[in-house]
Amino acid sequence: MRRWLVAASITMVSVLGLTACGGGGGEQTAQSPSADSGGKQQVEVFSWWTGPGEADGLAAMRKIFEDKNPTYTFFDAAVAGGSGDKAKALLQSKLQAGTPPDTFQGHAGAELQGYIKAGNLEDLTSLYDELKLKEVFPAQLVEQISVEGKIYSVPVNIHRSNVLWFNPAVLKEAGVAGAPKTIEEFVAALEKVKAKGKVPLSIGSEWTVTHLLESVLLGSLGTDAYNALFKPGADWNSPQVTTALQNFAKIMEYAGDPQDDWQPAAKQVADGEAAFNIMGDWAYGYFHNPPEGGLGKKSKTDFDWAPAPGTEGTYLWLSDSFTLPKGAKNRDGALAWLKVAASKEGQDAFNPKKGSIPARKDADQSLYTDYLADALKDWSSNKLAGSIQHGVAVNQPWLAAINEQVGLFLGTKDVKALQQGLADAATANAQ
Ligand code: GAL
Repeated sequence: MRRWLVAASITMVSVLGLTACGGGGGEQTAQSPSADSGGKQQVEVFSWWTGPGEADGLAAMRKIFEDKNPTYTFFDAAVAGGSGDKAKALLQSKLQAGTPPDTFQGHAGAELQGYIKAGNLEDLTSLYDELKLKEVFPAQLVEQISVEGKIYSVPVNIHRSNVLWFNPAVLKEAGVAGAPKTIEEFVAALEKVKAKGKVPLSIGSEWTVTHLLESVLLGSLGTDAYNALFKPGADWNSPQVTTALQNFAKIMEYAGDPQDDWQPAAKQVADGEAAFNIMGDWAYGYFHNPPEGGLGKKSKTDFDWAPAPGTEGTYLWLSDSFTLPKGAKNRDGALAWLKVAASKEGQDAFNPKKGSIPARKDADQSLYTDYLADALKDWSSNKLAGSIQHGVAVNQPWLAAINEQVGLFLGTKDVKALQQGLADAATANAQ
């Protein structure tokens, strides 16, 4: 049986002083929609999809929105920074100031439950009824975006977090026969690559290390014990967690210099400078999309993939969804965006570019080839575990506490302190 994680609530710390990359819409206080020079009403769409790869998916969905809605213009309020760390901080300040964007991206699960419980979102049940959406989204996914039977967002995709990306030529040169299946095999492979003078494991900014940690926890503990970490009374001080964190510390010994974000770290693999990178499947869009937005790399030659070591058979999942914040200036425009995001056409335009599979069950499967065909197959047959870094398993204060501990560990390399810090974070935040 599929194992969906129980979600929890948030109150996020606000961080001021960040600006949206689109300019103009972020600081408006008027409660009526802004118009562009042609008199069209703006719809402010807030996300963090500005970088190579991810922006392509958004552009594909934007095009459909604009074609279908000639009276609206899409205002791109995306804030740069993978995983949305900066975007989410700015969003919180906008929500607190009562100047929300017309719609924003939030992760299904604990993160979204936080916005719901804080009273930030409008109930979208009538939209679900109108478009018969309950029939097209997996019931367990709808559960993650609902509270007391009311549904609060429109999921556009399913992403996989536990993907091991690797460069086949670098592995061959190091004498590594194929993708390592266990943590032990992974460490042995990292050692072989190190001996050849290449970067064994590329990493990006700090959040990418928490991203790595979730795959190592899953690969070390197994699915049931991983999922149990987020239930009330979970034991983060167990010897099994100690072993998992020792594995994490060992693997981190092989990490290269931290890159600015996930894209430059992934690029080291595609360029043959590094052997491995553990990153979500948005990396596929980046590797595969043509050079205007991606790297235009050759699948199976420049890059290849496998489940992160020890995690085969489990989909460490997350889902991007769009919301209707209370007080949106252009509520009708936001609903028009949500209709596109919910549609088969919108999802089939967005996901092949984004490197994700559609949340809808009735998408055109022929569009999902190569890595994405594997993802579709695994999604329908694997066990499920919820991502930590991307909003499923833990709420935002808990994630902030985990990130803080990971940040401290990068300096101290102290496994014992990391375990105690993670245990304290769970005690303080689990609900
Ligand atoms: C995740 C998000 C993905 C992708 C990734 C890297 O949190 O769900 O869609 O954008 O961050 O930025």
